[in-house]
Amino acid sequence: MTQIRPVNLFEYEAMAHKRLPPAVWDYFSGGANDEVTLRENRAAFERIQIRPRVLVDVSQISMATTLLGAPVAMPICVAPSAMHGAACEDGECATAAAAGALGTLMAVSTESTRTLEEIAQSPTGPLWFQLYFSSSTRGHAERLAKRAEAAGYRAIVVTVDSSRWGQKERHARSEATFTWPPSGNFIQDPLPDRNEDEADGAAITWADIEWLRSVTALPLVLKGILTAEDAHECAEHGIAGILVSNHGGRQLDTVAATIEALPEIASAVAGRCEVYLDGGVRRGTDVLKALALGARAVFVGRPVLWGLAVAGAEGAQHVLELLRDELELAMALAGRPALADIDTSVVRTRAL
Ligand SMILES: Cc1cc2nc3c(=O)[nH]c(=O)nc-3n(C[C@H](O)[C@H](O)[C@H](O)COP(=O)(O)O)c2cc1C
Repeated sequence: MTQIRPVNLFEYEAMAHKRLPPAVWDYFSGGANDEVTLRENRAAFERIQIRPRVLVDVSQISMATTLLGAPVAMPICVAPSAMHGAACEDGECATAAAAGALGTLMAVSTESTRTLEEIAQSPTGPLWFQLYFSSSTRGHAERLAKRAEAAGYRAIVVTVDSSRWGQKERHARSEATFTWPPSGNFIQDPLPDRNEDEADGAAITWADIEWLRSVTALPLVLKGILTAEDAHECAEHGIAGILVSNHGGRQLDTVAATIEALPEIASAVAGRCEVYLDGGVRRGTDVLKALALGARAVFVGRPVLWGLAVAGAEGAQHVLELLRDELELAMALAGRPALADIDTSVVRTRAL
């Protein structure tokens, strides 16, 4: 571990910035275009105020819950992100061990550096598999889904905000200055040659989602939902979970901060599927606000990569511990000792 142990996630960010090659830093930290949404994800959390209750017995704080039936020790999970091998040697195996040590869930990216099978062999908690696919790569997607099922993954997270890849300008500038590790899952089963005329991205429609459902027994979570209309469609189509996400501000710039999109989605779904949020979660109070506005759990992306870059599995674990401890403190000071006590009365929604 490093000499000075960071006391919050922002200190991990600063340390990771110093350690990582500039191209990797640009890829991890950047957002699309002007990065308006990237900044909004943080700013919107900061605008929301908490309404604490006092004189409540907070001697016991309980944050254990379930996600699609799988028990987790806390409502803070690891978001799927590519290329953990660019942050530390053990890549996603280190991340999985960190999540496992905290008794929480990790979503593994299609674009992991380690294979999904290697990751599942780590001492870890529940795993979900994030799938990128296109209508033209259904065969490949089916094999990945079957591999995930066989390896013990409990859900498929389909990322639906990426019909084309967003323009991450910092990444575009420095990408060529670094040798990126290969995507582990594609080594034994490469994607069929891309049609040059085809737009680069994961272009799918509801027909592809229905098809995917017919070839896997795993529940589906759709990641990248930002409107009540699409949330309603999800519920109508029997989707098990919705991850409210703007891809960490990396896809369509100037969409809303996820914490601002969350209330309309929670209200449209009205309990028909589980709702989660990612994007800009850096403090325990952010987690409390997301739970208050209808999320069952939150996912964190970049901070886990910072932890990996600073101190491998130990760093990623410490990042998750810091968030857990901050959430525990926030629940105590807000006078909501159990997850069931957290509802919209926790926040001043006027700010939204
Ligand atoms: C470096 C990086 C790589 C990512 N790769 C993927 C990916 O492969 N699949 C995916 O669905 N989302 C990916 N994401 C988006 C994350 O799942 C998540 O939505 C986002 O990071 C959450 O915001 P946060 O970083 O502010 O916590 C990536 C994000 C980052 C920062």
